[in-house]
Amino acid sequence: MNPLRRLLLSLIMATLFSTATATSTRERFDAGWRFARFGLMPDGTTRAEPPGLAAPGTDDHDWRRLNLPHDWGIEGPFRPELPGDTGKLPWAGIGWYRKAFALPAGAPGRRVVLAIDGAMSHPTIFLNGEPVGEWAYGYASFRVDLTSRLQAGTNVLAIRLDNPPDSSRWYPGGGLYRHVWLETTGPLYLVPDGVFVKTPVVSAASATVEIDAEVAGAGAGPLTMRQEIMRADAPQQVLVAGETAVAIPAGDAPATARLRLELPRPALWSVEQPTLHVLRTTLLRGPEVLDRRETTFGVRAAEFTADDGFQLNGRRLPLNGVCEHHDLGPLGAAFNTRAMERKLEILRSFGVNAIRTSHNPPAPELLDLCDRLGFVVLDEAFDCWRIEKTANDYHRDFDRWHLRDLTNFVRRDRNHASVVLWSTGNEIPEQRGPDLALARQLVAIVKSLDPTRPVTNGLNFVDSVKNGFASAFDAIGLNYKPSLYAANRQLAPGVPMFSSESSSTISSRGEYFFPVSNVRDGGHFNLQISSYDLYYPRWATTPDMEWEGQERNPFVAGEFVWTGFDYLGEPTPYDNNEANALNFQTEEERQRALAELAKVGGHLPSRSSYFGIVDLCGFPKDRYFLYQSHWRPELPMAHLLPHWTWPERVGQVTPVMCYTSGDEAELFLNGRSLGRKTRGAYEYRFRWDEVVYEPGELKVVTYRQGRPWATDVVRTAGAPARIELTADRTHVAADGDDLVYLTVRVLDAAGTLVPRANLRVTFTAAGPGDVVAVCNGDATSFEPMQANTIQAWNGMAQGIVRTRRGAAGDISITATASGLPLAAAIGVRSE
Ligand code: GAL
Repeated sequence: MNPLRRLLLSLIMATLFSTATATSTRERFDAGWRFARFGLMPDGTTRAEPPGLAAPGTDDHDWRRLNLPHDWGIEGPFRPELPGDTGKLPWAGIGWYRKAFALPAGAPGRRVVLAIDGAMSHPTIFLNGEPVGEWAYGYASFRVDLTSRLQAGTNVLAIRLDNPPDSSRWYPGGGLYRHVWLETTGPLYLVPDGVFVKTPVVSAASATVEIDAEVAGAGAGPLTMRQEIMRADAPQQVLVAGETAVAIPAGDAPATARLRLELPRPALWSVEQPTLHVLRTTLLRGPEVLDRRETTFGVRAAEFTADDGFQLNGRRLPLNGVCEHHDLGPLGAAFNTRAMERKLEILRSFGVNAIRTSHNPPAPELLDLCDRLGFVVLDEAFDCWRIEKTANDYHRDFDRWHLRDLTNFVRRDRNHASVVLWSTGNEIPEQRGPDLALARQLVAIVKSLDPTRPVTNGLNFVDSVKNGFASAFDAIGLNYKPSLYAANRQLAPGVPMFSSESSSTISSRGEYFFPVSNVRDGGHFNLQISSYDLYYPRWATTPDMEWEGQERNPFVAGEFVWTGFDYLGEPTPYDNNEANALNFQTEEERQRALAELAKVGGHLPSRSSYFGIVDLCGFPKDRYFLYQSHWRPELPMAHLLPHWTWPERVGQVTPVMCYTSGDEAELFLNGRSLGRKTRGAYEYRFRWDEVVYEPGELKVVTYRQGRPWATDVVRTAGAPARIELTADRTHVAADGDDLVYLTVRVLDAAGTLVPRANLRVTFTAAGPGDVVAVCNGDATSFEPMQANTIQAWNGMAQGIVRTRRGAAGDISITATASGLPLAAAIGVRSE
């Protein structure tokens, strides 16, 4: 390293550490990495991995410079011959990250730890050429102690990742795709994730707050622990405080200090009012502050009951949940807080109040967001245990790693107000055995770390209650079994039940095929799926079937729909993933499915799912409005489908549906009534199956209890005339992380969306922002998404602009569409 660069680095590190007195520090360590790929390369060739890449002197000047989080898979290209179930992206392979950094003179004597929130996968960490740590599970948060290998002056970290093919059922991404931190502590310190806050008794009058706090390290006593509780929105005002003595840790074992405080008239955390509290923990030796940590938590009572669903603060909260994979669509697996926040905002807009982190630990920031925005979370650890779902999945690592993975997972997440339920697994093949002993062992690990929350599993095997497997768990999560709620209740009468996975209805935004078939797999065509919301794989249901099951069995706590957003990978039914066959109940059924899959085999082009209620961009599909009508019954809304631009269908039957929170609906075509209908029992949508298409205006007028409620209109569109450009926000942060989401809609001269317009759209940004990604929601598109241009799909396209760190100013954004004369422009302030 040249002397100037070294000086600069030590200055930066000196600033970093000068603020660090005795107490712990934690800094983002995302900036300034070098990256190179080996083994399987993006273009399908292989590149030999030279020896010695961990050595400090390795010449990495021509490696790519980048900041984390980084996902090497989303950079593409999409390749037809890669498996569709993992997104047809080149995520498999070997990646190396290197970073040089310096420690200031003050650092010796302190413990220095690298904390990684997710490394996909099998990371080995080297410091100054020597291995200092390793992990296996790509979704795990873990820490590596660097202290013993640190040297004065420059240090070189090198991280090798090895992402084997055939190791996932969905798109996993590749790389250091979540945040990385550098933490330091003094000789006696509060253990990270070692503070645990519980609220065992909660009433309007008071809450009992129990705190366990671990101290580790070496040094002289006597020590005192002080605990203070404030509201997160009024941190100056201590509501209650207390102190207790704490022993000096013996050897490696931490000492735990326990304290119980009574918080009078607590502001409770709920979905509607997610009030948070902060616990400030201070470790003292006499007046000397040795360490201090803040832990955010919520005061709430959460309970799953056998007879009356899920109760939050003594009131039933129907679980209107969705399952979500970890990817962020066009941004891939690279975590971004704003992208996740936007995701939650979209989910909330159609009534979602619960998230299942299927099927792995999420980025920790997701849970911070759920705490703050008021979502309850089913936090899930694994998609498999010892028995494989794919050849190289976690089953290979399970025996060696599951204890450490479960431990880190529960300790990291157990203070979150949002987390109300743990899951140790999804559709675990061991449920068939059943391997009850293993199930119980995993539950025991979780309970030893958090005795306050129930533990569940997503069960898909039809006999998993009957054969006793479900008895390992506190709550029965059923995947796709509305027809078995009543029977399972008879088998396990005292056990809470909910749908851990429901629906799996499939559709493509804005695609409609005729004639409309009511047969489950009748709506497939041209690698798209009709958006009449009647189509689903054979293990699944429509939303309507699930709702009827819940209405008939009101003890069921609610559901987690598969899925809220479309995700990369698993383009059922257009994939050839044998793991889908795991959903079948008999060997004969499975063999039949495998034979069908073999028939359609080859290189099916789809690369992302059709399951989402919204598409990969987050644009609503019709189903968005069906869920909104059911989950937000007090919101006056009505939605008509299909679109009404069918020049080739004049005179042909073109069925019309309306999703509404009203209880009556009347349809008008060019002003003529086509009938007023009343909602019947177990009916969730209005249908007019015999409508004969003519161009013009289709209008629905809905009523609730006889009074006008909501209307919707769709009109026949003319030719594309202009584009409309909108941004999700007008003010963003100049921090290099914040994002602007842009939506382009292709309109005709009258302002009607042209529903089948597929013009090429190009985004540009001038000023302190960059176009980093584009998307159109088409599961069959192989266009790169880390680009600034993409074909609109069914009239819409998305662009994403990222701000620049420390560069405030106005970002002017334009979009143009091929063949249209005028660009659309919009200004966003970054500060
Ligand atoms: C479930 C499985 C999910 C997803 C889904 C698709 O059985 O748990 O991960 O594969 O099927 O319907």
